[in-house]
Amino acid sequence: MQAIIEYLKQNKARFVEDLCDYVRFPSVSAQPQHRSDLHACAAWLVKHCRQIGLNARLCPTQGHPIVVAKTPAPRKRAGRVPHFVVYGHYDVQPPEPIDLWISPPFEPRVKGRSLFGRGASDNKGQNLAHLKAVQAYLKTGTPLPCDITFVIEGEEEVGSSSLARFLRAHRNELNCDAVVISDTGMPTPKHPALTYALRGIAAFELTLRGPAHDLHSGIFGGTVDNPAMALSQMLGKLRDNNGRVAIPGFYDDVQRLSAYERKQFKRLPFDERDYRKFLGVPKLFGERGHTPIEQRSARPTLEINGLTSGYQGEGNKTIVPAWARAKITTRLVPNQNPAKIIKSVRQHLKKLCPPTVRMELKTGHGAKPYIVSPTSLQAQAALRALKSAFGCEPVLIREGGSIPIVNDFKKILRAESLMLGLALPDDNAHSPNEKFNLDNFAKGQLMSACLWQELSRC
Ligand code: BES
Ligand code: MN
Repeated sequence: MQAIIEYLKQNKARFVEDLCDYVRFPSVSAQPQHRSDLHACAAWLVKHCRQIGLNARLCPTQGHPIVVAKTPAPRKRAGRVPHFVVYGHYDVQPPEPIDLWISPPFEPRVKGRSLFGRGASDNKGQNLAHLKAVQAYLKTGTPLPCDITFVIEGEEEVGSSSLARFLRAHRNELNCDAVVISDTGMPTPKHPALTYALRGIAAFELTLRGPAHDLHSGIFGGTVDNPAMALSQMLGKLRDNNGRVAIPGFYDDVQRLSAYERKQFKRLPFDERDYRKFLGVPKLFGERGHTPIEQRSARPTLEINGLTSGYQGEGNKTIVPAWARAKITTRLVPNQNPAKIIKSVRQHLKKLCPPTVRMELKTGHGAKPYIVSPTSLQAQAALRALKSAFGCEPVLIREGGSIPIVNDFKKILRAESLMLGLALPDDNAHSPNEKFNLDNFAKGQLMSACLWQELSRC
């Protein structure tokens, strides 16, 4: 390991430059005008992987391309060695609102100990850390104790719709002992973490249509229903006074937290006052009877993500709008099933909808929640790698975000995911001024380098 540690140290500045090159691509998967930028970013990755010494290829899909890069097979090797897949994504969330960025989102800049730019932590910095660890093995001639295949996709932020098919078509090539993912977080720089559960998701777009077009609210108001008002009333009924989702059956399949897990959560670093201040809210909100840590990682929620109707410009416009729309997502926990939840939500909204408007309900992303044993031999190996790279005791956490493809890794490749996140809570993922802590970038490389040793011994 000494040669690897030395190599990573020697090349620290160069690797930050590489990350800047990576972040410069505006690979926004949700926006059609960036299609060619996604392709260019994938092509850059392939080239970069080849320079590192990997066998890399660009795999076209119906959507954005997938990059596959493998460690070369050594000349002679005794017996079977384990095979691990490293999963990551090169696509990023839209950078808007741009005016809130202190430097342009695709002009990466180092300020203090962080690199600012859209995608710096979610997920370019995190997957590049793994590539740099493997680069260190290959460039120092240190034998790898395992085979590694990188699968870096361009559609994670829009639901990974091409990757599941790709996994099915390449299940032999991708057959592996585990999938390693750094696309989650850690509570503080001194608490490296292994994430053993993610929430699932079900997304909806609810539209209410009233009059054929916007109407003068003075002439017609009072005789026709107002879709914005009807929508607000419906939405208002979706939660109760205890902060619970008020949809019949919503909690039916929710697995209650064990006393043991709740006790473990209490040991995680968390200060409610700091948290409240950091979020800038006057008071925290949440399901009664649960702590914030439980609420955001192990309890289901329903959120309005967007709300649109009527006139949005300056001043007043006296109309009854023709329509109103809400974008909604529910986050799901074991053992909730997205299909079943979609059904209950649809049924309930139908019941709440007054006969004075027409209702349309579209569904979007759907992913099951994910939970994996935090005590397996592989999990223990991951914890050892975290400990030696970060120099402090790692923690086990559940997280509220979703990575839909982990369920397909399990179903199609029959492999569990080891999630070793390097993002910090204030890295501003999906927000303006996203950043990645460069100490975590360096420690992440070291963690990855250790991980292959530890995992291959299991
Ligand atoms: N990296 C996140 C997922 C994440 C973040 C997991 C923090 C755990 C902690 C990922 O890039 C993401 O944003 N996923 C989306 C999935 C959705 C678009 C289906 C999410 O969670 O909103
Ligand atoms: Mn994301």
